[in-house]
Amino acid sequence: MQIGLGFWASKTLLSAIELELFTELAKHPENLDAIQGRLGLHERSARDFLDALVALGMLERKDGTYQNTPSTDLFLDKAKPSYIGGILEMANHRLYPFWGGLTEALRTGKPQNETRHGQEPIFETLYADPARLREFLSAMTGVSHGGNMKIARAFPWADYSTFADIGTAQGDLVVQIAEANPHLTGIGFDLPVVEPIFEEYAARSSAADRIRFEGGDFFERGLPKADVLLMGHILHDWGLTDKRMLITKAYDALPEGGALIVYEALIDDDRRANAFGLLMSLNMLIETDSGFDYTGADCQGWMADAGFRESRVEHLIGPDSMVIGIK
Ligand SMILES: C[S@@+](CC[C@H](N)C(=O)[O-])C[C@H]1O[C@@H](n2cnc3c(N)ncnc32)[C@H](O)[C@@H]1O
Repeated sequence: MQIGLGFWASKTLLSAIELELFTELAKHPENLDAIQGRLGLHERSARDFLDALVALGMLERKDGTYQNTPSTDLFLDKAKPSYIGGILEMANHRLYPFWGGLTEALRTGKPQNETRHGQEPIFETLYADPARLREFLSAMTGVSHGGNMKIARAFPWADYSTFADIGTAQGDLVVQIAEANPHLTGIGFDLPVVEPIFEEYAARSSAADRIRFEGGDFFERGLPKADVLLMGHILHDWGLTDKRMLITKAYDALPEGGALIVYEALIDDDRRANAFGLLMSLNMLIETDSGFDYTGADCQGWMADAGFRESRVEHLIGPDSMVIGIK
């Protein structure tokens, strides 16, 4: 029952984020009447909505006053740099309705997002609308920030001096690596349309003078040359032929001894434990023409086929792991 009716709790949280409830309560705790007025809630809904969030562990209530929990205060207050709600905003606007088409996707193998009605492939469709572009890129930061911080510290960066993040979005990975490793210079590579959003994000970094954007389409040109190349949540967007092509392009762009770091919610090799990774793969069914998630062993096999002499898998945080291939 919890799984079957899980969308009740899911949509309650997503609506709370849409209404910016946690951002409001981060300013100061409020009682029912004040929240109802400020968020414009109907009197029929307000009490149940807030108390449901208490029961779900998303709010605390003391003597009729509602406040954030430590976690919702840290992660869901838009005013804090630790805000990760971008991915949940996108889940609310896009994924929640699109997942209604899952059964059709299971039968047809066809995406169920904006592309369903014969529109352009996902990135062209997303990027045709500036608001959607911004929402998508900041959603990526939300989903990747914890893993980005871990990569910036867990990888032996002392052995290298340059890096390039392929499909960088807002550039959070580039920022985290450069800030944690003052000897490095880095490139954020993405489609040219992403540049202003990268620049805006990178300008706020204390390492802004060591990072830069490079625009390009990885289907039409080689990858930037650097000691370390990174691909976060890139390979799962594409089918097997394109996955292999991108790994080969990375191999070609690296020097001898250079490293490729691929990271995603890798599925466990036995394909039975990382439910998040498997559901992410179904999300790729909804969102893309041919994308799918994969195991660490799958990726190590593709790396070996491309010529990488060794590879290893390391867990990052939550469902995310990285595969490191050495040329
Ligand atoms: C799923 S997002 C991942 C973003 C980021 N690496 C992360 O993990 O949060 C995929 C990224 O690939 C970029 N991308 C898609 N097609 C591309 C192409 N043909 N060439 C370069 N970048 C592309 C998108 O603009 C987007 O930023």
